[in-house]
Amino acid sequence: MKTKSKPLIFSVTSGKGGVGKSFLTTNLATTLANQGKKVLVADCDLGLANIDIMLGINPTLTLKDVVFGTLHLRDVITTTKGGFDLIPASSGVREMAQLLFEKIQMIKDMLLEIEGYDIILLDTGAGISEVVLQFNLLAGQNIIVINRELTSLTDAYAMVKVMYQVFGRKTFSIITNNIKDEKEGSNIFKNIDTISQRFLGFPLHYLGHVVTDDVVAKAILKQEMAVLAFPHSHITTNFSQIGKAIFDWQKH
Ligand SMILES: Nc1ncnc2c1ncn2[C@@H]1O[C@H](COP(=O)(O)OP(=O)(O)OP(=O)(O)O)[C@@H](O)[C@H]1O
Ligand SMILES: [Mg+2]
Repeated sequence: MKTKSKPLIFSVTSGKGGVGKSFLTTNLATTLANQGKKVLVADCDLGLANIDIMLGINPTLTLKDVVFGTLHLRDVITTTKGGFDLIPASSGVREMAQLLFEKIQMIKDMLLEIEGYDIILLDTGAGISEVVLQFNLLAGQNIIVINRELTSLTDAYAMVKVMYQVFGRKTFSIITNNIKDEKEGSNIFKNIDTISQRFLGFPLHYLGHVVTDDVVAKAILKQEMAVLAFPHSHITTNFSQIGKAIFDWQKH
């Protein structure tokens, strides 16, 4: 059944690279699709896209054909074995990493025109480049991923601070990834929440945690989604809880 209302748009972003954004985006999308939602993922890591590789697909049309061609974003959407749809980006195309502001604006306008989904997840590149900030601004909600490394926390705080000071945004949610257990996750969250309250004056929202699990590497080797290939794993439970938390959070 098609959804008529405008999709919720979430970005999955981070200050520091390599914290697990693409892993989280694709497995969260798979989980939400499993929970009956119609989900679209947009690979917004324009210069170094890799979601297609994680899924073992080789799309003929990508975001590049929208930016440098005449296609609409709708035309490059492809289905995936995760049960969600994907707007693939291209990798190793230098011009894509340095897109002009007008082109980013064009992608943003087209994304806002897309209907028929409950939720759109934008997997951004890392850092506070203009492209990443623009995608975060377009999204109604920003999910910031952090892990136990101090630099991931300080870089996440930098992201929150810039989004607040430049665009006035005050609502952010956090996922802790690659951690030992629930307790470590909530301690890491408490650190960044305390800093935000003290220096910016607003609290952050905690969406949940995902533990370090060796099924992640196994799934990547098989080019499968971990939550489908290992349905009884610890991370599959983590993703179900985050999936529910996202929609509970929206009700508030
Ligand atoms: N919870 C986890 N358990 C085990 N491995 C993980 C976990 N989360 C992420 N990884 C691994 O960490 C690596 C980095 O993850 P990923 O590519 O998703 O990060 P990213 O934030 O998207 O990176 P980039 O900033 O380069 O886009 C990958 O090899 C991924 O499989
Ligand atoms: Mg990534």
